[in-house]
Amino acid sequence: MKILGIETSCDETGVAIVDVKSEHDISILSNSLATSMNFHAETGGIIPEIAARHQSTYMLPVLFDALTKAGLAENRTPDIHAIAVTYGPGLIGSLLVGVETAKTLSYLWNKPLIPVNHLFGHLYANWIGQKKILFPAIALIVSGGHTDLLLMKSHDDITWLGGTRDDAAGEAFDKIGRLLGFPYPAGPLIELFAKNGDPHKYTFPRPLMSNGLYDFSFSGLKTAVLREVQKTHIITEDVRANICRGMQDAIISVLVKKTLRAIKTFHAKSLILSGGVASNQTLRTAFHDSLQELNFSSTLYVPEKSLCTDNAAMIATAGYFTKEQGDWKHTVANPQLYFD
Ligand code: KG4
Ligand code: ZN
Repeated sequence: MKILGIETSCDETGVAIVDVKSEHDISILSNSLATSMNFHAETGGIIPEIAARHQSTYMLPVLFDALTKAGLAENRTPDIHAIAVTYGPGLIGSLLVGVETAKTLSYLWNKPLIPVNHLFGHLYANWIGQKKILFPAIALIVSGGHTDLLLMKSHDDITWLGGTRDDAAGEAFDKIGRLLGFPYPAGPLIELFAKNGDPHKYTFPRPLMSNGLYDFSFSGLKTAVLREVQKTHIITEDVRANICRGMQDAIISVLVKKTLRAIKTFHAKSLILSGGVASNQTLRTAFHDSLQELNFSSTLYVPEKSLCTDNAAMIATAGYFTKEQGDWKHTVANPQLYFD
């Protein structure tokens, strides 16, 4: 079964085609992506209007590229089973580009339309490939817009355990990066600088670390870094590296501690990481090592790095697991969509 996925919730324009042989055997036939990142790098953050304008020009070339790479561009109606599209959460102008394109294709090609929650897209990036993920699973989604901890007992039984009260983990990387003079998105650069940082120079707060709940808060960390930056007269490369190391350690230790508690409480057989921040190698290693050190028998799953950040293959895959089918007449973009 081939599913075409469309992703335009933020600044990326993605179209992908995945081939689902079974729940445990999903392969990518094509995964095309265009980004307006360079424009946002200059302004230090995403300007929604700019993102949507670029998406409306990238949409059709990216669609054609994905169909061509999958060998499906020959026929007027490609040999696919369904069209999956991100309908929320995200930026309204951006979502509309993908949703309206998907509705048009669904009507033209007479194919079912599957509206996909972007967060489930991140989650299901873990099912790409040949995987047999055992339940119950604990899933941590860490992206630019979200920090959410989920308990997954089956594909139909997913419970939200907790999330961020304010800034998402990726947002903290980006906002602190801006204080340090890094372009958007700052996560990858902070990771790079942190490699040369001294872990003992700055000990930033680990908010809500021991409150026994599954909620997170990262906005205080940004304020703590701001205070250090204001106190420091010259931000040398060393200072920058030390701050990066300190803030990255703070975020990772809170994420690891709360996630491990959830694994223990719910006797999880699997730990699933996803979202842009999960491409951070230090975070991946920290989870791997802590599972080993504590002798947890849960298996760790993390998508390959290019599938952690926004892409359409994860949306096509989530479309396969989504039970609710939409149709082109009734599907509408929902920027505020959360877990339902
Ligand atoms: O999942 P994603 O592509 O978009 C959202 O749905 O938000 O995540 C983007 C976020 C950005 O905040 C970016 O700074 C962060 O993921 N990110 C990283 C790394 N790579 C991307 N954060 C930390 N370390 C990284 N290596
Ligand atoms: Zn995302």
